Amino acid sequence: MVKGFVPLSEVATSNTHGEDSPYFAGWKAYDEDPYDAASNPSGVIQMGLAENQVSFDLLEKYLEQHPEATGWGCGISSFRENALFQDYHGLKSFRKAMASFMEQIRGGRAKFDPERIVLTAGATAANELLTFILADPGDCLLIPTPYYPGFDRDLRWRTGVNIIPVHCDSSNGFQITRQALETACAEAEAMKTRVRGLLLTNPSNPLGTAIARPVLDELLDFATEKNIHLISDEIYSGSVFSSGEFVSMAEIVEAREHRGCERVHIVYSLSKDLGLPGFRVGAIYSYNDAVVTTARRMSSFTLVSSQTQKMLAAMLGDREFTEEYLARNRERLKKRYELIVEGLKKAGIECLQGNAGLFCWMNLKPLLAEPTRDAELELWKSILHEVKLNISPGSSCHCTEAGWFRVCFANMSEQTLEVALRRIKDFMKKTKA
Ligand SMILES: Cc1ncc(COP(=O)(O)O)c(C=O)c1O
Repeated sequence: MVKGFVPLSEVATSNTHGEDSPYFAGWKAYDEDPYDAASNPSGVIQMGLAENQVSFDLLEKYLEQHPEATGWGCGISSFRENALFQDYHGLKSFRKAMASFMEQIRGGRAKFDPERIVLTAGATAANELLTFILADPGDCLLIPTPYYPGFDRDLRWRTGVNIIPVHCDSSNGFQITRQALETACAEAEAMKTRVRGLLLTNPSNPLGTAIARPVLDELLDFATEKNIHLISDEIYSGSVFSSGEFVSMAEIVEAREHRGCERVHIVYSLSKDLGLPGFRVGAIYSYNDAVVTTARRMSSFTLVSSQTQKMLAAMLGDREFTEEYLARNRERLKKRYELIVEGLKKAGIECLQGNAGLFCWMNLKPLLAEPTRDAELELWKSILHEVKLNISPGSSCHCTEAGWFRVCFANMSEQTLEVALRRIKDFMKKTKA
């Protein structure tokens, strides 16, 4: 047998997945020394994971009261139904339940047709799948910064598509401007790469803010003018603290009576609003027939198991449950948000005013030795290794303004959050001394 180097594909050997960034390195540091109040009280507290555990009891209560939702139903025949072949359309009952849940989140201001819902294994798969359909290798997507670090992997790695950042900064609360969009287009032109779409995250990860209606209108006008696609990742749409503060791209489409809306595609998932990232349930909702048909074919690579669909069809089809869940989840997230923002304020730290999501966007610019990415990463390292908190540096979200950090608050108990706030307060006292 010949020993030695056996070549792998370009995809396998490329590093466009971005998984060597501090965003993922911080997770490793947490895994090696995880905080536990009883067994490891000086361990690392994980504040770099946008996971929602604040409403888990509500899901558990539902399952306790509805054991039929998780069981096999009527014995063997139902087992067979789950186990045997499922085509890529997914269960109609589940697509109907997803459509009505998405409508409910938007306060009934937008309609979703179950026939346009394509199920995927999470928003990760939905975003990659859309990129495969809308762009060719070497083309690019415009993405406002700061953005979710996973996009580098999801949109670029296997598709060969590039990302051109649309740089936003604190001078206007990180809002997307026409000027920033035009600058990104000019950059794409200089790089001789064809712009195929604009991807928004609304509400934003990592900012924790929803995009205002007039901005959404302008963004759709921009996409129309440039004849490019508009993807709206609305994975945090049900995690807006006050329901009236979120406008979905679906509402903009309806206000235009669907005119020119074949370029609009919405991404959703149950990973955040329902706190079920392990179930791998996402969806693409496209207003473009050809995209729906192609996405459905491609979803063969990334289906949701029948068992999961059945259980969630029952849960999301129960209006009484979903109404109570959404209302209480919002209340709890708001309370958490206020707790952390108040705590940070007392420690002398300001945050961007947020109204959604599972995190806040914290300003540590005053602590930087100089306003650079290197200084930001130095600060991040001391917070990780001395304060033992894993937070995400803004540079891992491609933020060009140094000193911003994303801090997650919904993946831990209130007691753990109090410990984290105490540690930050002590750190601030020490740094000022
Ligand atoms: C904006 C955004 N899109 C997509 C994802 C991926 O979600 P999923 O677990 O559904 O794949 C995340 C997860 O953090 C996210 O924040």
